[in-house]
Amino acid sequence: MTSTAAPFPEGFLWGGATAANQVEGAFAEGGKGLSIQDVMPHGLMSPPTDGPTDDNLKQVAIDFYHRYAQDIALFAEMGFRTFRFSIAWSRIFPLGDEAEPNEEGLAFYDRVLDQCEKHGIEPLVTISHYETPLHLARTYDGWVNRELIGFYERYVRVLFGRYGHRVRYWLTFNEINSVLHAPFMSGAIATPKEQLTASDLYQAVHHELVASALATKVARELAPSARIGCMVLAMPVYPLTPDPDDVLAALQTDRTNLAFGDIHVRGEYPGYYLRHLREAGVELTITDEDRALLAEHTVDFVSFSYYVSVCETADASARTTGAGNIFPGVPNPHLQASAWGWQIDPVGLRIVLNQFWDRWRKPLFIVENGLGAKDELVEVDGVPTVLDDDRISYLNDHLVQVAEALADGVDVMGYTPWGCIDLVSASTAQLSKRYGFVYVDRDDDGSGTLARYRKKSFGWYQEVIASRGASLRR
Ligand code: BG6
Repeated sequence: MTSTAAPFPEGFLWGGATAANQVEGAFAEGGKGLSIQDVMPHGLMSPPTDGPTDDNLKQVAIDFYHRYAQDIALFAEMGFRTFRFSIAWSRIFPLGDEAEPNEEGLAFYDRVLDQCEKHGIEPLVTISHYETPLHLARTYDGWVNRELIGFYERYVRVLFGRYGHRVRYWLTFNEINSVLHAPFMSGAIATPKEQLTASDLYQAVHHELVASALATKVARELAPSARIGCMVLAMPVYPLTPDPDDVLAALQTDRTNLAFGDIHVRGEYPGYYLRHLREAGVELTITDEDRALLAEHTVDFVSFSYYVSVCETADASARTTGAGNIFPGVPNPHLQASAWGWQIDPVGLRIVLNQFWDRWRKPLFIVENGLGAKDELVEVDGVPTVLDDDRISYLNDHLVQVAEALADGVDVMGYTPWGCIDLVSASTAQLSKRYGFVYVDRDDDGSGTLARYRKKSFGWYQEVIASRGASLRR
């Protein structure tokens, strides 16, 4: 295999992604406070419980808190150059509004970073990934309250102060646009969605956007070599037909997501977004200081998750609802869906990469992508494994489209497929919705040894990384 055949550049950040609440477990260890996930035992669709319940798989998750060294060694074995993980805010500030951080929580991430360094793996850290301290939700109504900006600033100051010299790549908020659809999980907003006014919701969005800009500002002060990215949920919206009304409807729905990148990259609210707010009767409190923060502290790169595309139509009689990631869309008659109803569209990834590059001219980082599927543990030559050919096909086909985008001239920094080791699903709180290259022996009822096994995709990804994509099947 010659290097000229390799479609991915040297220095491409190959890796995998996780989030604290979906892997760590140890929900009440090390001085950790409760997070909103500790009252979401059944995922996104069920209302939060009053307090922690034993049926919450995330209490143990895959026990990464105690097994991180073994897991990071497995990632290194695959050839990872980067590992995306989040810091659990409630390990660092158990309530969220304290003056001083929890040293035990900080020390845990020191140890995780030690392991990354030992294996030459570049950490990619999400500062807030759907795991805001519960106290901030219950006492302040989450991001609706402007005080959250100050608590988040205190938190990021601690992170950049402690880890700024060791971590180069940071993401401010996971899938920041999802707060419009999942106000509790994404925005820690305790007010039930049905009772939440549009003004409160968009005020919460505004506070997160300001906090994100503030994180960039703090990074410039405390960790000048850090590179800061926003993270958006990408779900391209196609017109259901060529009817211009459908094309316009698709553009408008797409813009509900694109606005977040626009604001992070350009530093101001776009006209179409302001019009939408006006027409929705939303009145926002935006200070001059907010405007200056947004304008002066734009991001270095744009990162995003990509699993699924959807359609849009202006014709109410043609509108049906299919599953999307976090929020639904009109299904595409040309695409097949996963067992969880998410439509599989590798070309959509090339479209998104080109669209984002044309629009923002910022380096792009694909920080989530993958196939959630049921896996069956089998023995091959006496070794437990999973023959996950569907997952291999999914990832192969998406990576082929990334290679096409690179050939189109798009600046793609890296690729960290989601759940590189099996973890607890965000939407359904299941373990049986598996994404990993590494199988974790734990079931939806909580049974299992937590042992790790390499799936067939483990060796496949190892080869893709080693060959810089030359081994991909086209
Ligand atoms: C993204 C989230 O929305 O999708 C992850 O950032 C999540 O936290 C991933 O796990 C996959 O979704 P799910 O619902 O299959 O876990």
